[in-house]
Amino acid sequence: MSAIRGSILLTDDEEKILKRLGRALRDDGHEVIEAGSAREAQKLLGERPFDLLVVDNVMPGMTGLELIRDLGLTMSPSERPQVLMMTAHASVENAIEAMKLGALDYLQKPFEVEELLVVVRHALEHQRLRTERQYLISERNAEFNHYGIVGRSRAMEEVIKRAELVAQTKSTVLITGETGTGKEMVARAIHHHSAQRDMPLIKVNCAAIPDTLLESELFGHVRGAFTGATMTKRGKFALADGGSIFLDEIGTLTTAVQSKLLRVLQEREFEPLGAERTQRVDVRVIAATNRDLKQMVGDGRFQEDLYYRLNVIPIVIPPLRDRRDDIPVLIEHFVDKHKGRTGKPIERVDDEVMQILQRYEWPGNVRELENTIERAVVLATSAVLTPQSVSLLGATSAPPPGLPSLRLHQNIEWVEKETVRRSLEQSGGVKKEAAELMGISQRALSYYLSKYRID
Ligand SMILES: Nc1ncnc2c1ncn2[C@@H]1O[C@H](COP(=O)(O)OP(=O)(O)OP(=O)(O)O)[C@@H](O)[C@H]1O
Ligand SMILES: [Mg+2]
Repeated sequence: MSAIRGSILLTDDEEKILKRLGRALRDDGHEVIEAGSAREAQKLLGERPFDLLVVDNVMPGMTGLELIRDLGLTMSPSERPQVLMMTAHASVENAIEAMKLGALDYLQKPFEVEELLVVVRHALEHQRLRTERQYLISERNAEFNHYGIVGRSRAMEEVIKRAELVAQTKSTVLITGETGTGKEMVARAIHHHSAQRDMPLIKVNCAAIPDTLLESELFGHVRGAFTGATMTKRGKFALADGGSIFLDEIGTLTTAVQSKLLRVLQEREFEPLGAERTQRVDVRVIAATNRDLKQMVGDGRFQEDLYYRLNVIPIVIPPLRDRRDDIPVLIEHFVDKHKGRTGKPIERVDDEVMQILQRYEWPGNVRELENTIERAVVLATSAVLTPQSVSLLGATSAPPPGLPSLRLHQNIEWVEKETVRRSLEQSGGVKKEAAELMGISQRALSYYLSKYRID
């Protein structure tokens, strides 16, 4: 018996051939259904899946060739069986025609049964590989469908749907949401599912670059354009040509840069600083902000024209506290992620913990939730995440009695690290401001930066 077995639909109008070949194939371990005509085969194919169709060509009524042609038209490639055609000596042209229509091989009558068995095994092997490949592709698509974005709330479904639609266009996208809601994640998903996915995605954090440098960072400069411009430098727009540029924290742009950006969006062209030549670019712009741009337009801090140019396709990600349905799935996702990373055998999350996390306000949104879970997993001493292993910034519960000092110590470290990180984020990476925000000296900040290896 063959090691490769499958379900075969055998079709021939000659009863004797049907019986003989059917028996041989069954003896080889296959499941065989016999059909006496192409019409009958067609009906069976509509009723259940087969791995392989072995079909005679010349039959009264519908021919084998017609059946194969019909299969190509009515069944999707993933459902279609492999096809072998049997044909008489005189009609090799038909066999070739069948192969053009997608048949894998043909058998020229008369043939030895052994020959049939070999060709059938080969065809089934092909089918198995095809199924496996399709499975892998569908797995990947399932992942792509969610863009790696976890969420089951109506609001997140809407976000994912929009991202999917907009990925297929080259429209400008404006993503708005509080800090940690997943704006960058959505931006990356859009690029990676666009037709330009093989071209670069260039990220610019507009808040982290000093105003004086931002223009040159975005548009580049020529040598001698300003003091210190010792070399010609390509800007981020030029680097992103053909792909996407992700302008993060767009709400912090100065008026000068706003004007220049408006021009790129309108004309698809710009001049590097100090350059005389205009440069053209073909770039999709994805912008993100946690500020209310509309409000800023009202206050005269953001150009109205630019706002409308950016806001072609708005994607608004609601804060986590407004989509609490997402909390349990996110917890599960992050527990899995971090237990995998740390090798901790966490089995479940205590019900009480679930309730606490569901009720919490999450000012830092999904990022804060992920940090909380990561910390809990790292600190866990058993397979269950208990209230003792979870601590929330700003949640006003007294520390549970009997906390081992090690854990307390780690909690403090986490709070320190997180405070530094957030201040840096708020100050757009400017250390002096971050230190001021925390009310500590710049030297103290340097100490924390090196202690926690923060860049
Ligand atoms: N729906 C989600 N599913 C899985 N992970 C998420 C989701 N939303 C956010 N995250 C994770 O949370 C973290 C913060 O997300 P991201 O950096 O995209 O937020 P952001 O909105 O850009 O925040 P900020 O305004 O502070 O820059 C990332 O680690 C991201 O992977
Ligand atoms: Mg971000």
